[in-house]
Amino acid sequence: MAQDGPLLDTFGRSHDNLRVSVTDRCNIRCFYCMPEHPVEFVPRGEILSFEEIERFVRISVRLGIRKVRVTGGEPLVRKGLPELIRILSAINEIEDLSLTTNGILLEDLAEPLYQAGLRRINIHLDTLDRERFRQITRRDELDRVLAGVEACRRLGYSPIKINVVAVKDLVEPDLVPLARFGREKGLEIRYIEFMPLDAQGLWQRDKVLFAGEILERLSREIGPLRPAEDGDPLRPAAEYVFADGIGRVGFIRSVSDPFCRNCNRIRLTADGKLRYCLFALEETDVKGLLRSGASDEEIIGVIRSTVRAKWEGHEINTARFVPPPRPMYAIGG
Ligand code: 5AD
Ligand code: SF4
Repeated sequence: MAQDGPLLDTFGRSHDNLRVSVTDRCNIRCFYCMPEHPVEFVPRGEILSFEEIERFVRISVRLGIRKVRVTGGEPLVRKGLPELIRILSAINEIEDLSLTTNGILLEDLAEPLYQAGLRRINIHLDTLDRERFRQITRRDELDRVLAGVEACRRLGYSPIKINVVAVKDLVEPDLVPLARFGREKGLEIRYIEFMPLDAQGLWQRDKVLFAGEILERLSREIGPLRPAEDGDPLRPAAEYVFADGIGRVGFIRSVSDPFCRNCNRIRLTADGKLRYCLFALEETDVKGLLRSGASDEEIIGVIRSTVRAKWEGHEINTARFVPPPRPMYAIGG
């Protein structure tokens, strides 16, 4: 047990947050993530089994991991996902278990997931307008997403957060309607600055709709916002509440104010690679270890050395920036 204890990098950051991608497949094609043309997904045999994920997570909690988020691709297309949630819920050290989904399959799955122990959910929804939804995701699925949101509200999921990718000259008409929708339904709307993680390399800095502009627009058109008192500086989202007490919004300023200095995350991809950053250019193979009979101690050694190799931060704002070889759906967001 000598190796147990916090996962520190060389900049003094301690890592307690693990994101586990369970598939790279998805049932829609958001342009800021997936290409339009047919995608070559990881063959099924290369995807970690639930047993392999459980083993990795149990090892990680020995190193101080306390928050686990299940991601994709679209995690709900992974068969039997509630069973994985049940397995992860049973790990007592995990204080915070959550899921990020596009919501399309939630109408049926929200209940089994809840029964398996899930309480926190992020649903990805950029617009309430059917035509714009189709334009962004290249699929006509808005109604199913909205039904999924309702299912979560009915079951009492809390918090329910809505992820909006803030792309300039596209989502401006949706900013205010989404915030109003959140106020009405008790959902936190989180605006995420568009990041260079799209499969087609379309990202450009001038296509990012910055948090400051959104904040200004919401305050002007809905009402004043003030920083949430319970906002956690270690969380990537800057959180605000409307001054009238109704509604909460968050901003992920990945481009205008990266939270790298407080980053506490590591990521496991669906095909069993460990990444110390969304934008990392290197990754460590964990699947090979899991499949070749490596001991827990060997795996701990590899996790520690991956975290020790972590850089100070991504370089989106510099000319040196090189986008990672994997787009968002293959990393897990
Ligand atoms: N930039 C910012 N956010 C993105 N997401 C997907 N692609 C991008 C991108 N290029 C978000 C989606 C999803 C979450 C995992 O990441 O909102 O919910
Ligand atoms: Fe699918 Fe999410 Fe990527 Fe959209 S952002 S294509 S929902 S994986």
